[in-house]
Amino acid sequence: MIDPEKVRRFWQGRAAVAGKVAFESVANLEQDQSNLQLKIDDETAKVFDWLPAVAGMSVLDLGAGVGQWSFRFAERGATRVLAVEYAQGLVEIAEVEARRRGMEQVEFQVCSAEGFDTRECFDLVFISGLFVYLNDDQARSLLDRLAGFVRPGGLLMVRDGTGVGVRHEINDRFSEHLGEFYSATYRTRDDYLREIEGRGIELLRDENMFEEGHPLNKYPETRLHLFMFRRPA
Ligand SMILES: C[S@@+](CC[C@H](N)C(=O)[O-])C[C@H]1O[C@@H](n2cnc3c(N)ncnc32)[C@H](O)[C@@H]1O
Repeated sequence: MIDPEKVRRFWQGRAAVAGKVAFESVANLEQDQSNLQLKIDDETAKVFDWLPAVAGMSVLDLGAGVGQWSFRFAERGATRVLAVEYAQGLVEIAEVEARRRGMEQVEFQVCSAEGFDTRECFDLVFISGLFVYLNDDQARSLLDRLAGFVRPGGLLMVRDGTGVGVRHEINDRFSEHLGEFYSATYRTRDDYLREIEGRGIELLRDENMFEEGHPLNKYPETRLHLFMFRRPA
């Protein structure tokens, strides 16, 4: 299993690349400029095509990085966005950016996703690129409380890397693209559905983020996947 301390150090270290790579690349790790724009454009279009209008919604963004998705919810009229992120340096970057954009409705909280708890229920809980960095114990500890963060009738959207057919793990391997040692766990789509079953959330739809042949399907072992769940009313 991946080592949570190594993963945490990796993410704490990402604050140091701010200013050297595009703002979005700090957390989404796509450092090729043309791939980055394609990623932003295609993913944003799909996510907001699947979601109902977010104007007036409250949103919990877990593993928010520098807040890039939080800002997209706020831009589209979400009235409250709570962005939870455990890397203090990333939160500091995000808070400067939120002030620069005048987005007072976005609040950042430094906390691990598996340790986060609240009595507040949100219209939408959004989890993007987080589960791949949680080991199984961390993932279960988050899943145990997740339904409670969604208001009855509210939505949970998960956008995360998945293994094609089988679970795929990268355990402390050097990445040429990032110039760092890197760890991540790509659970299969079925692993996600099995883990979520019986936890008070129902699947509405799911599919790979990019169609086959898309240039951002870079590795044969993995696919970025989008799931939309609902907590029954
Ligand atoms: C790939 S980035 C995704 C950022 C953002 N959600 C997005 O989609 O652009 C993963 C983020 O999850 C954060 N993260 C990883 N493990 C975490 C944990 N256990 N608790 C909270 N945040 C975590 C990292 O620090 C990083 O900012």
